[in-house]
Amino acid sequence: MESLKGKSVLVTGATGGIGTQLVRLLVGSGAKVFVAGRNAEKLNNLAIELTIPQAQVLIMDIANETSVNSAIDQLLLVSPVVDIVINAAGIGIIKTMDLLTSVEFEQTLQTNLFGTFYLLKRILPVMKLVKKGLIINIPGVLGKIPMAGAAAYCASKYGLTGMLQSIREELKRTDIRITNLYLGGVDSPFWDNIDLRVQRDKMIITEEAAKAIWFLCQQPSSGVVSEMVLQPFNHQAI
Ligand SMILES: NC(=O)c1ccc[n+]([C@@H]2O[C@H](COP(=O)([O-])OP(=O)(O)OC[C@H]3O[C@@H](n4cnc5c(N)ncnc54)[C@H](OP(=O)(O)O)[C@@H]3O)[C@@H](O)[C@H]2O)c1
Repeated sequence: MESLKGKSVLVTGATGGIGTQLVRLLVGSGAKVFVAGRNAEKLNNLAIELTIPQAQVLIMDIANETSVNSAIDQLLLVSPVVDIVINAAGIGIIKTMDLLTSVEFEQTLQTNLFGTFYLLKRILPVMKLVKKGLIINIPGVLGKIPMAGAAAYCASKYGLTGMLQSIREELKRTDIRITNLYLGGVDSPFWDNIDLRVQRDKMIITEEAAKAIWFLCQQPSSGVVSEMVLQPFNHQAI
């Protein structure tokens, strides 16, 4: 396993259910963690709790390219090398076609798909300079299989799968690795506003989803974990 000590790690969605638990693990392993999110108050509270320096707190609306670029610029002032990026930002609007609006469809793609594009567009040249890096995304199982009511979400996450697999092809001659994590249901605030009957008590807990990502961050450098699938035991969709 590769040590995380001193590694420069960016976590988007750091204020989310999975992101927050992950940041805790990374800080505990001695990584230099940059926490990115759109909510300054939540980010600052996390930074205070974990004694993350203010310079490592990045206000970033991932759905806005200018905001992504300026957050990464701020990061580069502190750390010119970014060893690992974990993109744990995302939204889930789960509605059937009769209820889903075009604004919600656009918002979902803008955050989950375009947001990831903006992030990679800015971070890849930084990693290419040193010819190495690790990028972990969470398309989730709905990036591989369909679900009723998930037209917008699946469009964004299938899009992610295709985009990331294509980028991976471009990066084959570098040591920049892309890992896709296909998570099943995780009991996080993600589900708070989703009007669907789900058994949250049967889902993966955020601490364990975060541990899987923490493990992926330490994968041996001579190979790459291209994909990992982690699902609730009683609901294996793949
Ligand atoms: N939970 C699941 O069942 C599950 C399953 C498979 C895949 N995933 C994926 O895993 C990732 C993390 O999910 P989670 O369960 O931790 O959800 P969560 O608790 O809802 O956290 C989502 C995070 O994304 C951030 N975010 C949303 N829109 C943003 C924007 N425009 N700019 C910046 N940050 C934004 C949120 O920020 P705020 O704190 O400001 O809202 C929050 O930090 C998502 O990509 C999700 O699709 C989740």
